[in-house]
Amino acid sequence: MRAVCSRAQLWTGREALKVLICLGNAVSRPYKICTQCRYSSTASQNPFSSFLTTTPSSKVDLQGQSYEKDDWFNLPPTIASQIARKLHVQKDHPISITRAIIESKFPSQTYKYHNDFFPIVSTLQNFDSLGFPLDHPGRSKTDTYYINKGTVLRTHTSAHQADVFRRNESEGFLISADVYRRDAIDRSHYPIFHQMEAARVWDRKTVPNGDIAAAVWKDMEALPKHNMTVEDPNPPMHPERNPLQKKHLEDEAAAIAAHLKRSLELVVAEIFSRAKKAAIMANPDFADEQLKVRWVEAYFPFTSPSWELEIFWQGDWLEVLGSGVVAQDIMTNAGVPSQIGWAFGIGLERIAMLLFEIPDIRLFWSQDERFLSQFRGVMDNLDSLKRFVPFSKYPACYKDVAFWLRSSSSAAGGGGSTFHENDIMEIVRDIGGDNVEDVVKFDEFTHPKSGRKSLCYRINYRSLERTLTNEEANSYHEEVRKALVEKLGVELR
Ligand code: PHE
Repeated sequence: MRAVCSRAQLWTGREALKVLICLGNAVSRPYKICTQCRYSSTASQNPFSSFLTTTPSSKVDLQGQSYEKDDWFNLPPTIASQIARKLHVQKDHPISITRAIIESKFPSQTYKYHNDFFPIVSTLQNFDSLGFPLDHPGRSKTDTYYINKGTVLRTHTSAHQADVFRRNESEGFLISADVYRRDAIDRSHYPIFHQMEAARVWDRKTVPNGDIAAAVWKDMEALPKHNMTVEDPNPPMHPERNPLQKKHLEDEAAAIAAHLKRSLELVVAEIFSRAKKAAIMANPDFADEQLKVRWVEAYFPFTSPSWELEIFWQGDWLEVLGSGVVAQDIMTNAGVPSQIGWAFGIGLERIAMLLFEIPDIRLFWSQDERFLSQFRGVMDNLDSLKRFVPFSKYPACYKDVAFWLRSSSSAAGGGGSTFHENDIMEIVRDIGGDNVEDVVKFDEFTHPKSGRKSLCYRINYRSLERTLTNEEANSYHEEVRKALVEKLGVELR
């Protein structure tokens, strides 16, 4: 889950459930609106600032389009400059290879592939069309990059679901795209990542005798089998935890669930058989661990029942995807009320990291030949896929910063609502870019008398490509300290 510790960069069910029942979450994301993000002051120091052309009339040009800015605008130049990269369609890039492997499990006669949807979408597409409540944390400025109140960088590929259902061009589709979320900095999180969305629908008006369940089971029987062990302890639906939708019959939803689950298990089996082959190529004595996967009940505003798939990997259960039976309202609003089906969304970085053993998510953005050359030719011959061989690990340079939050902020014990950890992450990333490996809060306390809150963060400056000098790290760190004061109004300690 993104907000809790395994952090699969999916708005997964348990996270959403937690939000619904107002528990907040383990890393105490307060889900507050941030009013402090003024990135323009760093623009002049940023080598990418020319990508983000702003004019005094408060317009911004992005990807050849002009947008009106308002006080929701929070897009830093470092992010704007990367929009054009589209790693999912760069030949022989590991993200693109992963996309191609997944596509290979969904035949193009049934599933239409969409790989070039525009990344800037309306809040209607990203949230409303999917039934996100107005107070969903995903809508907040602390979590999402806004151009203006009604326009965002898509935070997930589901933003295109309703539009593609409305087009009604095929029984199924796959959408691969770059998605954007303000988030923590560590080796498995980056504010831009890639997702693949898929959906498969059946139409009551065209299936034989109008019998959806029979049609789905027939298609299910035609899917290949696999020999992976899958834990799936829960019934396909549960009246409280994972309800059947009012407009669906139980046996329809059960058949759709079975088709969805088998389709996804085939993806996982494929990825792992390729990962295993690559591991054996690297080490003929590679001892295969029994692959374990399990289905977990979940919650999304736009599917019900819903599930996540978890894979047991190096001692932990990792969430790799969210899925479910599409909310019938989405179909109805898209003008196809007689259709019913499933959808899933899978994070490509996490799968690619497992597949190639890539240890740090920043590597995907590297233009270093030592990285890129390792994947050359793979898309022409997937059987040549090899594990990534890390080049040198350069030294880490840890720097700490401690500060008092403004006494007015709620996190500082006051009544305001101005502090969010993602703002710190963004300041650090804006200054240090990909030279920051992670940022960790290691201490926090509240002064017993004043009620003021103090936080301490440790920043690990480490390049993936070269040794950073201590002077460089110091100069980044000095800038970070200054920016924390200027932008967040903290008092350094
Ligand atoms: N869009 C969801 C996410 O990013 C994943 C999802 C897609 C869940 C489709 C259900 C169906 O977390």
